[in-house]
Amino acid sequence: MEHVAVSPWVALAYLVSGVLFILALRGLSSPATSRAGNRYGMIGMTIAVVTTLLTHFPMVPLAPKPGSFCIDSCGQLPDWIAAGEIFAAIAIGGAIGFVIARKIAMTDMPQLVAAFHSLVGLAAVLVGLAAYLNPDAFGIMLPDGQINPVSRIELGLGIAIGAITFSGSVIAFLKLAGKMSGSPILLPGRHVLNLGTLIAIIGLVAYFTQDQSAWVIATITVLSFIIGFLLIIPIGGADMPVVVSMLNSYSGWAAAAMGFTLHNTAMIVTGALVGSSGAILSYIMCKAMNRGFLAVIAGGFGAEASAAGGAAREQRPWKRGSAEDAAYMMKEAENVIIIPGYGMAVSQAQHALREMGDVLKKEGVNVKYAIHPVAGRMPGHMNVLLAEANVPYDEVFELEDINSEFAQADVAFIIGANDVVNPAAKTDKSSPIYGMPVFDVDKAKTIFFVKRSMGGVGYAGVDNDVFYMDQTMMLLADAKKMVEDIVKALQH
Ligand code: TAP
Repeated sequence: MEHVAVSPWVALAYLVSGVLFILALRGLSSPATSRAGNRYGMIGMTIAVVTTLLTHFPMVPLAPKPGSFCIDSCGQLPDWIAAGEIFAAIAIGGAIGFVIARKIAMTDMPQLVAAFHSLVGLAAVLVGLAAYLNPDAFGIMLPDGQINPVSRIELGLGIAIGAITFSGSVIAFLKLAGKMSGSPILLPGRHVLNLGTLIAIIGLVAYFTQDQSAWVIATITVLSFIIGFLLIIPIGGADMPVVVSMLNSYSGWAAAAMGFTLHNTAMIVTGALVGSSGAILSYIMCKAMNRGFLAVIAGGFGAEASAAGGAAREQRPWKRGSAEDAAYMMKEAENVIIIPGYGMAVSQAQHALREMGDVLKKEGVNVKYAIHPVAGRMPGHMNVLLAEANVPYDEVFELEDINSEFAQADVAFIIGANDVVNPAAKTDKSSPIYGMPVFDVDKAKTIFFVKRSMGGVGYAGVDNDVFYMDQTMMLLADAKKMVEDIVKALQH
């Protein structure tokens, strides 16, 4: 039973917005086309929202004279009071989103994304519960007063995915914002607990097709909130990037499920695009982190290793360098590879870094930037910052394309990166980052390591042998300040 008869114009508008979303995803796959990608996405979303509003514009019956504003329900007039509610909700939500987007620091983006994912999940739960409580309004009620069994599956799955997304994203938000310890919380027998809860949810969704009692949908909702929580608490440290992209995928599927409940094709298409692109990103992240995809979905991957992390730090000798040392060595070098990380984002050193690269290139030095897939705090974080500073794209290389070049590099210049250059990932089985591919900076002739203090650790909270290597000089300062000093030293 269809809630709203879909006119060919509406179908066409949704098709156009779907195509624009696909073009947006394609555009976002490269920094060079990402602005165009964003524009396609915005146009597609505007078309989808306007079409949905026009199609579902609240009407009150008017007989016998047709109303002049009717769209697909002639004989009716617009219900301006109900429309006012919709526009008030859009205005309030839009204003909140606008203020948050203007205020948020780039380094806080991951937790903001997690918070927004949680809202998608909550919306899916609320839409599902609204449809359960008022099936007639959603066009899913059979003549005998029962909810259509197919719609019950959609409802059950939509609520379950939404609730998992909600509670999982809340935990991810708390961990990423540092409001909760980033360390894994390992419950005894968690794999059995997780599997049992997931099986119970699937079983209840199947049972819901036979019995639409309130206790069934309530239990699905509660268990799904719990499993979202259970799946994310064992994940911590360096594995958080996978969680962010995985929850992104879940939020897409939650939106798609909402689309089924609301009979909205655009929402189903958009949700499926977000869900599948998030799943592909999670897969890429898993490969980058050397983690099993299924282990991620089950939750708590790499957790045993993480639990052993954070061992007491040793006191070992290390060498301190200065901006002048770095300027002199890099000016004399033939090949310099710059490895940016989260600290570069914190200090906003990208513009100064580009200037340093420009000066070195004028001196005939071959400068390249090496980007790790999980450097920073969100996918593509370093690429965005370097693009903002107009670093040429052909100087920026992914891990697998540049790692073999460290053996020929005279200088590895590590700026605000730490975990992504930590050799413990290759050698120390007890390390929380064990198995993650890292840059082979130890093969470079000289290493400059920019960070603020010897006490500070990377996201995974572990010590780094690179600090103590013979060829390493620690440049202890704020990244931007240090690079500006190096530029001054290079120029004089
Ligand atoms: P991290 O390992 O987090 O290291 C950051 C380094 O920057 C630290 O050594 C810190 O030392 C230094 N630093 C901080 N502020 C600085 C400043 N103002 N000036 C100079 N240095 C500064 O960074 P990374 O190598 O980019 O690794 C990323 C980590 O985050 C990985 O473990 C990854 O799994 C995790 N993570 C990534 C993502 C995504 S999607 N990319 C999402 C969540 C988590 P001091 O404090 O001593 O200065």
